[in-house]
Amino acid sequence: MNHQQYKLEYEVYADASALKQEDASLLDEARKVTDQAYAPYSAFKVGAVAKLANGALVIGTNQENASFPVGICAERVLLSAAATLHPGVAIESIAISYNNTKGKSNHPVSPCGVCRQSLLEYEIRVKNPIRLILSGLEGNVYVIPQAGSLLPLSFTSEDMK
Ligand code: THU
Repeated sequence: MNHQQYKLEYEVYADASALKQEDASLLDEARKVTDQAYAPYSAFKVGAVAKLANGALVIGTNQENASFPVGICAERVLLSAAATLHPGVAIESIAISYNNTKGKSNHPVSPCGVCRQSLLEYEIRVKNPIRLILSGLEGNVYVIPQAGSLLPLSFTSEDMK
């Protein structure tokens, strides 16, 4: 038997004011775009803003549907938009925030499992790590240097060769 361990390293900041300016303004945008989410069923409005290597900003918000599984998370709306508007361009960072309109929005939430898979594959596709800046409307902030690190032992196209 060979014992293996997986280590996830990330940064924790007390609040947005502790971030470097570029990250603080990306997070500020993500907090603002939560207003553009369509989340009448969950009342949980998620906003994501990406900074691309060509300087462009791309946003995504969650878009729900009365047929619940049809809904799509903010992260995958953003990735679809980025891939369509700026094909092949690396995403440097994505700030993700949320407004839990029926509860608290004061701690970071991290992407769901499906979005982790999509983020990982985007990193592989454009050969560039994606930094994640995670925070609610207030409170502490996590910075994760590489989105794919959230999905250990991941399944990729390499496994199908
Ligand atoms: N949601 C996101 O958009 N991103 C996440 O990282 C977590 C969850 C959405 C899906 C659904 O519309 C609502 O938040 C509640 O799960």
